[in-house]
Amino acid sequence: MVQIEQIFPSLTWRIRHETMYPELPFDSVKLPDDFDGIHFGLYLDHKLTGVVSLFHDGDVYQFRKLAILPSAQKAGLGLQLMAYILDFCNIQKATKLWCNARINAKEFYFKFGFHETDKTFFKDGYDFVVMEKEL
Ligand SMILES: CC(C)(COP(=O)(O)OP(=O)(O)OC[C@H]1O[C@@H](n2cnc3c(N)ncnc32)[C@H](O)[C@@H]1OP(=O)(O)O)[C@@H](O)C(=O)NCCC(=O)NCCS
Repeated sequence: MVQIEQIFPSLTWRIRHETMYPELPFDSVKLPDDFDGIHFGLYLDHKLTGVVSLFHDGDVYQFRKLAILPSAQKAGLGLQLMAYILDFCNIQKATKLWCNARINAKEFYFKFGFHETDKTFFKDGYDFVVMEKEL
């Protein structure tokens, strides 16, 4: 059973750390503006299994730190969480949703109609490209 709901910022940290940066110190996954964000958790059989965080500047929204625990990946959960935040952004009348995508995840975002921009960078051992979608 899958449930998605808004969660307190600190609940995202463990999932982010285990999924995205297990080799870095725990505190490295905390974002300075976490307490300004809107955070969502995906519960699989009542266990917090995936998270994503939304930040906005007016009607332009950014999602950050989309993470599904490794043991639960490739089962359609990331897809459900993305669909949920796209609905949320549409309800908020957002005009654009963007993200800093890890290069190795960009095919995942193509599935939702995101396109690559020419902005790329390297951080914490990963190559990123800015991807966006007009809403
Ligand atoms: C990227 C991530 C959120 C995807 O979540 P997931 O639950 O594994 O994805 P899903 O099972 O919902 O995948 C949906 C579809 O996207 C594809 N997909 C998932 N991850 C992919 C990837 N990294 N590259 C290419 N395709 C991918 C799946 O094969 C599936 O395709 P299909 O419908 O044709 O079978 C998850 O793998 C993750 O947390 N990865 C580590 C952290 C990360 O990279 N986060 C994104 C940072 S930008």
